[in-house]
Amino acid sequence: MQLNNQVAIVTGGGRGIGRGIANKLADHGATVVIASTSMEPAQIVVAEIEAKGGRALALQTDVSDFDSVRQTVATTIERFDQIDILVNNAGGSARGRMSLFCDSEEDTWDYVLGTNLKGVFYTCRAVINHMQDRGHGSIVNIGSVAGMIGLASQVDYSAAKGGVIAFTQALAKETSKHNVRVNCVSPGPVSSEAGRSIPPEMRKNLAMNALSESTGFGHFAEPDDIANLVAFLASSDAKFITGQNYPVCGLMNLGLNVPLGG
Ligand SMILES: NC(=O)c1ccc[n+]([C@@H]2O[C@H](COP(=O)([O-])OP(=O)(O)OC[C@H]3O[C@@H](n4cnc5c(N)ncnc54)[C@H](O)[C@@H]3O)[C@@H](O)[C@H]2O)c1
Repeated sequence: MQLNNQVAIVTGGGRGIGRGIANKLADHGATVVIASTSMEPAQIVVAEIEAKGGRALALQTDVSDFDSVRQTVATTIERFDQIDILVNNAGGSARGRMSLFCDSEEDTWDYVLGTNLKGVFYTCRAVINHMQDRGHGSIVNIGSVAGMIGLASQVDYSAAKGGVIAFTQALAKETSKHNVRVNCVSPGPVSSEAGRSIPPEMRKNLAMNALSESTGFGHFAEPDDIANLVAFLASSDAKFITGQNYPVCGLMNLGLNVPLGG
């Protein structure tokens, strides 16, 4: 798999899964633009990539702000002439504001939908004409197993990620004739900074729900487990794959079924 001469934008690429994806794409030869709200971690990832001989640029971007997204796309084209790959990774659940639906607030709903779903609309809308005009492009959206099976206490997040999966399928149907592919990768629990920052009380709750056990491996995935598939889907090795959603969650989407003998 090689991504030489390809330019990629990775949203939220400054840490966690996005950091893994940015590094992986760069390792395969892509120039990577890290589009993130927080510049300091994004600059660290740029330094990581440059230290390996790669090319990267950090651009302050808020995916829930269309002007900010359009500016990032314009700057990327100005600087590197093209955008071949877009990875919509920025997002997450409403950490610290997670609740049962019966206790939920509208502003939390707006925040979660705004970042996870409308953010994907903004970035795709900003790059799609460019990709279609060039007759070349690969978009990889980061969904979640929550969007496939629904997770309690994360009704907003589940709805947003379910929307991302349907968005992926619908957009792929419009863009295949322009050779622009759109796919989705839906992780289960990943050992990212976000995972580690879950408050102890919530962790206990998650443990009670046997989140780790539900993967069948007894532990969370690593960011690289997600990044490997993203890099493949971004590359021409996946040239006949579009409109698909790939869970990377062990067995979590299949439900727990303990075999005889434990
Ligand atoms: N960690 C998990 O267990 C898990 C599971 C399933 C899906 N996911 C999804 O994977 C993606 C990455 O998750 P993570 O755990 O690495 O998250 P994270 O919180 O560790 O990192 C998210 C990054 O996105 C950036 N970001 C947040 N809001 C942004 C915005 N509005 N505009 C631009 N950048 C923004 C943050 O600065 C941060 O660098 C998210 O879409 C998340 O929903 C994560």
